[in-house]
Amino acid sequence: MDWGIRNRLSRILRPDDGRTVMLAADHGYFLGPTHRLEEPRGTLTPLLPFADALMVARGLVRNCVEPSAQVPLVLRVSGGASVVGADLANETVITAMDDAVRLNASAVALSVFIGSEYEHQTLANLGRLVDRGIDCGMPVLAVTAVGKELEKRDARYLALCCRIAAELGAHFVKTYFCDGFEEVVAGCPVPVVIAGGPKSGTERDALATAYKAMQQGAAGVDMGRNVWQSDHPVPMIRALRSIVHDGATDDEAFAIFTRLKQSGHLQPV
Ligand code: R5P
Repeated sequence: MDWGIRNRLSRILRPDDGRTVMLAADHGYFLGPTHRLEEPRGTLTPLLPFADALMVARGLVRNCVEPSAQVPLVLRVSGGASVVGADLANETVITAMDDAVRLNASAVALSVFIGSEYEHQTLANLGRLVDRGIDCGMPVLAVTAVGKELEKRDARYLALCCRIAAELGAHFVKTYFCDGFEEVVAGCPVPVVIAGGPKSGTERDALATAYKAMQQGAAGVDMGRNVWQSDHPVPMIRALRSIVHDGATDDEAFAIFTRLKQSGHLQPV
């Protein structure tokens, strides 16, 4: 792997433990003004000091993130479909690699929709993006997306998706946690991070998912709604950090969450 790609990846996956807490906030590229991300600057600014990387699309970077922010960017570069359109899987690359370089991105991210009508198109997008990434020293994150078909998220399917993404050259992969997740990680030769998915349960549930994923080989989390849709987003991301970087259990992390929530979250963990 080229020095530039390794250098950029080391900004995202911490060199001391190879792990990362990414903050996902790219939802607007197909969902519009998602609940609690209607005003992204206000939502994201307090969270940035606790994120190892921020995953966003370029419009949000330029309008809602200070150029002086010290958070590495993972730039969402695929899109072209929306939640009210015909098919979420009908994506193409919508941001040039030159613009990712201009924004000083540390990686670019693209979704693949394997098993969908747009499988070939989105996998071809990935291949071309990896070629451009190699040209520019830019790592590529492949997101194994399922669109509205959330029931697809089982180990056999996700293992297939992650392996294909890695075989096509993705430098790291984002997928969902599932029963048998260790199978997904075992079959994938590059680091795997997990998305949080819709915020359906409690903070404790999301921390338990993160803990199980780390125990089963994840390289970290790339969570959005389970952080910024929480009533206590800063305690939540700090609790996630304790699991990913400090080896806390989910119970210990939940105790940290509770303590920070009660103390106004400024005390050291
Ligand atoms: C996925 O393609 C989206 O763009 C989000 O980045 C991803 O779903 C992670 O966010 P959340 O934890 O809210 O699911």
